[in-house]
Amino acid sequence: MSQCNLGEPWRVQMDADVRVAADRHANLRVIFKDAQNSSLTQRAQVEELVEQGVDVIIISPKEAAPLTRPVAEAYQRGIPVIILDRQVQGDQYTTFIGADNVRIGREAGKWIRETLGGQGKIVELKGLMTSTPGQDRNRGFLEGLELDGNPGLEIVFSGEMQWLEPNARGEMESALATNDEIDVVYAHNDPGAHGAWLAARAAGREEEIQFVGIDALPHEGQQYVQQGILDATFLYPTGGEEAIDLALAILRGEEVPKHVVLGTRLFTGETVAEGGRPIR
Ligand code: FRU
Repeated sequence: MSQCNLGEPWRVQMDADVRVAADRHANLRVIFKDAQNSSLTQRAQVEELVEQGVDVIIISPKEAAPLTRPVAEAYQRGIPVIILDRQVQGDQYTTFIGADNVRIGREAGKWIRETLGGQGKIVELKGLMTSTPGQDRNRGFLEGLELDGNPGLEIVFSGEMQWLEPNARGEMESALATNDEIDVVYAHNDPGAHGAWLAARAAGREEEIQFVGIDALPHEGQQYVQQGILDATFLYPTGGEEAIDLALAILRGEEVPKHVVLGTRLFTGETVAEGGRPIR
């Protein structure tokens, strides 16, 4: 199991989901690697797993381009590779499991357009744009906002916080310093939305701004919604349990789908207590 970093709660949860699912099977042993947010380290760790002769590799890659080759080399050497959450380029892997980030971005855009009634100033804090969820959450968001048909909506600031709360806080400080009016912050993940809220609170402006994130971990995003810090967050499932199910199917010699799409749910103040509302 090659994890790109364990500095964020969502990734700790992914490893935990893999561990819990694997522990149900006495014939499985999982070797966990943490690349500490370095694509170079992650590449070396994948190569190491190949040399060790593992039977299946599960990987959640940091960035698409640098991890494409090591994944393809493992796959071509006959080691099945299951990719989680962030994509590599091309199709040289066994299966990809993840939620539809374009769809989640689109739903976030739609929610913001409707909540603002087609009128308002928006800040977008993007994830790492060399990773596919950052690209997809941005593209879907623009589709869902429908700026062309809603001239009253405006993105007044957009920054790349690379998924990290401290960066989001810094970007938001710039957004606040250069904009007297901000109505909504859309951050590509909950740590980003929380970082933006911290900056707004320090400036005494958190009450006038709505905050929208993605991930909705029970002990992170869902809790922020309960506390009134976030106004909305969309579930981004880790896929850890599904990865173990598919690993077992592969080891039994079964055919598995090339692409497994996981669902999402919307958590707001009204729906958080009942576990969010599924998005169909
Ligand atoms: C954790 C994370 C999540 C986000 C995902 C996107 O590293 O930033 O917060 O949803 O990665 O790949």
